[in-house]
Amino acid sequence: MNGAQEILKSRRTIYKFSDKRVDYSELELAFEAADNAPCHKKTYPWKYYVVGRKSREMLLPTVISLCRKKEESKGNVASKQSEARAISKIMDVPVIIAVTTKLTPGDDFREEEDYAATVCSLHNLVLSLWSRGIGSQWSTGGITRHQSTYKNLGISETKERIIGFVKVGYPESIPGEKKVEARKIVEYLP
Ligand SMILES: Cc1cc2nc3c(=O)[nH]c(=O)nc-3n(C[C@H](O)[C@H](O)[C@H](O)COP(=O)(O)O)c2cc1C
Repeated sequence: MNGAQEILKSRRTIYKFSDKRVDYSELELAFEAADNAPCHKKTYPWKYYVVGRKSREMLLPTVISLCRKKEESKGNVASKQSEARAISKIMDVPVIIAVTTKLTPGDDFREEEDYAATVCSLHNLVLSLWSRGIGSQWSTGGITRHQSTYKNLGISETKERIIGFVKVGYPESIPGEKKVEARKIVEYLP
């Protein structure tokens, strides 16, 4: 894929990944892009944890319990299929990266700016991958915010906040999500 504009305009969230393995050299390139994001006070608040199979397995008891609770809230009992789907969303994704932003207790503005910088960094990562034909999905599902996830991934809840998991892989299909017309999001003021 050529040209920044084409990369920016064609990127879509990918929900179905093929089995093709993502080489770690591709991740390294994307982390380099992520590391070049703007950051106001040079706090470099972003951190990326590539979640391996063993670590993913540790998340499963909570994944299953969240699935059961979700079904209960709808008046259902979780079926084996819905539990298997929830497990598959963690175990069958080629790469999962937990993204964190630094916390600065007592300084809400610093945390807000740092969150903004981390999102810029995350999107650099996503776009770098996309430029190499690799798709991703930012997920903020219950498992990404659960207390046990911090413990299982060895992330300090007092120092960092998980802003999501980025699921990464080669796209099996690319959704045709349409966007608002650009002219509708801009006003040129006198
Ligand atoms: C902050 C944020 C959180 C998101 N969380 C989820 C999520 O939990 N699950 C999901 O399927 N997609 C999630 N997405 C992806 C959005 O649903 C997706 O970006 C949106 O539908 C627009 O599609 P596009 O990325 O193809 O332009 C998230 C996106 C953002 C920016």
